Amino acid sequence: MKVKIAPSILSADFTRLGEQVQQAVAGGADYIHVDIMDGHFVPNMTIGPLVVAALKPITRSAGVILETHLMIEKPERLIPEFAQAGADRITVHVETCPHLHRTVQQIKALGLRVGVTLNPATPLGSLEEILPEVDLVLIMSVNPGLGGQVYIPSSTNRIARLRQTLRERGLGQVEIEVDGGISLENAAEITDAGATVLVSGTAIFHSSDSIPANIARLRAAADRNE
Ligand code: DX5
Ligand code: ZN
Repeated sequence: MKVKIAPSILSADFTRLGEQVQQAVAGGADYIHVDIMDGHFVPNMTIGPLVVAALKPITRSAGVILETHLMIEKPERLIPEFAQAGADRITVHVETCPHLHRTVQQIKALGLRVGVTLNPATPLGSLEEILPEVDLVLIMSVNPGLGGQVYIPSSTNRIARLRQTLRERGLGQVEIEVDGGISLENAAEITDAGATVLVSGTAIFHSSDSIPANIARLRAAADRNE
């Protein structure tokens, strides 16, 4: 399966955000990944619905999915605002959702795609009941909060185990997205384990070449063993 690339704008130059997202879209980005941090669930703050709304015309005209990764406490309070702003997918952390089933239904009722995500130390088993309800599982391969961190090696085994579970349960259509520390060196191992979407900030926005060239290189590295 052809891997999808989701540039994370966390590493973009925010003084030229529109221009850089346009370059990512022109360079074949499949999804644009927007990291929303609240300074509580993670020790960092980023942006909110205003920026999602500002980017929407760019992704809409290109037919690219605009996805929001909510690293915030009580995400259910802000889900309507992100939907209104134009998010195509909302991904929530299981660690922030005591009523995860309700939160997932809230996102679906707004007509959006829904993802759930796990921190590196959260057991895969916490997804057992919710898997049939979601479009995507995001495996965090770093502890969330910052770009530019190093990939946690045991993530690869988690991806493989999740892919196996999805296969056994007849849920092969569920996407596995991986976020954090993805590089040209580890992209193939991650897709071989069963990931279908790679999120990347540093390798796309902080590498020496142009944004489209960096996307192409990451895609080629991920598909190396195809
Ligand atoms: C981390 C964010 C990631 C991050 C990935 O909390 O969720 O999306 O931007 O960036 P790199 O590719 O730099 O690890
Ligand atoms: Zn993210």
